[in-house]
Amino acid sequence: MTGPLDYSGKTVLVVGGTSGIGNGIAQGFRKAGASVHVTGTRGSAEDYPDSEMEGLAFHSLDVSDRDAVDAFDWPDTLDVVVLCQGIARYGREEFTREGWDAVMEVNLDSLLDCANATRQKLADTGGSLIIVSSVGGYKGLVGNPAYGASKAGAISMVKSLGVAFGGEGIRVNGIAPGYVHTKINDAFLKDEKMQKQIIASTPRGRLGLPADMAGAALFLASPLADYVVGQTISVDGGMSVAN
Ligand SMILES: NC(=O)c1ccc[n+]([C@@H]2O[C@H](COP(=O)([O-])OP(=O)(O)OC[C@H]3O[C@@H](n4cnc5c(N)ncnc54)[C@H](OP(=O)(O)O)[C@@H]3O)[C@@H](O)[C@H]2O)c1
Repeated sequence: MTGPLDYSGKTVLVVGGTSGIGNGIAQGFRKAGASVHVTGTRGSAEDYPDSEMEGLAFHSLDVSDRDAVDAFDWPDTLDVVVLCQGIARYGREEFTREGWDAVMEVNLDSLLDCANATRQKLADTGGSLIIVSSVGGYKGLVGNPAYGASKAGAISMVKSLGVAFGGEGIRVNGIAPGYVHTKINDAFLKDEKMQKQIIASTPRGRLGLPADMAGAALFLASPLADYVVGQTISVDGGMSVAN
């Protein structure tokens, strides 16, 4: 591949790249020629399906442990960092102090820790930071107040870091996915009736795929998006403009 979407010679790190959307983004960059590192919470690459880990360098990192983020051995060079870590708690747990804290630690606090930790390396390459939030950050979420607040915070952080890091040559942008069936939402998306309901209110007529998010990430990190700063692109098949 040649052209602006050719990532040969580039090093990409996807935090939360072991599963679902992050894994789709990691594989997208790999197929575009990049050397790709991913992090996940388990001990080793063998703890994940072979198909997901194909061609990726794995590192174990639990971002809720702030000291572990500070101590993490980041790759020497970084052209693109994608922050895709995320959790949700169901069954009203996010209304409890423990549930709120657990979600905020992973979905919001760790974004700043990871951004601070990789800032200099991204400045050295004139690189891109991409934060994965959610269209849920623009809505009221009846059972997930922490998830919704964390994602609204992530969208805000894209703007603040876009401004704060912009002068160093780092472009910060975000992706707000719609519904993609992954392990974070399998609890309700495995229900076919629920899927049909979502699809019926999505102009594109289907759920999202990790590869859809990879397309947006490849664009945002490329020279095609050289003048795009502090923006979060909704990649939701039109759901949020239809409802
Ligand atoms: N799926 C959707 O419909 C949807 C919609 C909007 C936004 N999003 C967002 O997209 C991102 C990816 O979610 P997904 O749907 O791909 O879910 P997923 O399949 O559950 O993937 C979540 C990723 O985050 C990692 N992670 C979880 N807790 C972590 C921790 N404490 N420290 C470090 N990494 C941690 C996971 O690692 P392990 O593999 O080791 O568990 C995994 O790589 C999340 O930020 C999510 O909020 C998803």
